[in-house]
Amino acid sequence: MFKKLGIALLVGGVVVVFARSQEVPSDFQLLWAIFAMIGAMVFMLLDAKPLAMMSGGKSLLAVAAFWILIVTVCIAGASLLPQFDPEDEREKISKLLEKQRAASEQGKADELIARAKALDEQVKALEERLKGLGGSQVATATTTPPAGGKPPAGAGGGAAGDVMKVGEEQWQLQECYNCHKLRGEGGKKRGPELDNIGTLLTVEEIQEKIVDPKSFMAEGYDKEWKKGVMPDKFKDLMDPKEMLALATWLGTFKNTSVNTPKPIKKK
Ligand code: HEC
Repeated sequence: MFKKLGIALLVGGVVVVFARSQEVPSDFQLLWAIFAMIGAMVFMLLDAKPLAMMSGGKSLLAVAAFWILIVTVCIAGASLLPQFDPEDEREKISKLLEKQRAASEQGKADELIARAKALDEQVKALEERLKGLGGSQVATATTTPPAGGKPPAGAGGGAAGDVMKVGEEQWQLQECYNCHKLRGEGGKKRGPELDNIGTLLTVEEIQEKIVDPKSFMAEGYDKEWKKGVMPDKFKDLMDPKEMLALATWLGTFKNTSVNTPKPIKKK
């Protein structure tokens, strides 16, 4: 029996080490280890002495008692394990959606502010022209278009800020951080650190890499590139504007002290 217990512990250990190396969530590591122990118990039971022969009511009672024991152990055991809670998942999803909703509302507000700024600029330009004409009280002149018709500087500045915000938001929403470290955060060793990507790739090339992960290969990541670890789904999840914003935002990361691997052109 001790020999079997030893083998079970060894098998359990190997299973857990394997699960760890594959980054299996810890709940499942525990479950696998428990399976190994249950298996061991079954093998140990095979060694147990057989029960004496029974018949009639006694045997029926024994079967019922065994059934109750097994059911109790299964239910009690299972309820001790971590439980999946749909409420938890719902909360996570609503948090994601909330962020998106807030973002689109913020986007609308920004647009309105930019438009108001543009109008203000036009009014100022008109006032200047009217002053130049020497008649600041000429009301009919409001129908004249503003001089030049250039977009006001304020709107341009706001738009650039928006792009950066949308870019960072996409980084979070698409969960690039799951595989990539950036600013020292995220990345579970699956993909390269990206703090210096802006020095190595242009915005267009970063976009190409997101649209088609096979287009470039990070130096030293041959295995991951061949296996297609970086998902080929982002082109379906982002619209072109969001994609460009993400690439533009990543393009600003030019921290040469971080060893971002060299991208090698593949397609
Ligand atoms: C499931 C893991 C995973 C996710 C999620 C992921 N990537 Fe990657 N990424 C990788 C791996 C692995 C590599 C290295 C192998 C390769 O080049 O394909 C890589 C490479 C890159 C590179 C090239 C880096 C270099 O130095 O050459 C860029 C840029 C990049 N990813 C951007 C992104 C962006 C942006 C997102 C989110 C939209 C993202 N990745 C999501 C795994 C991932």
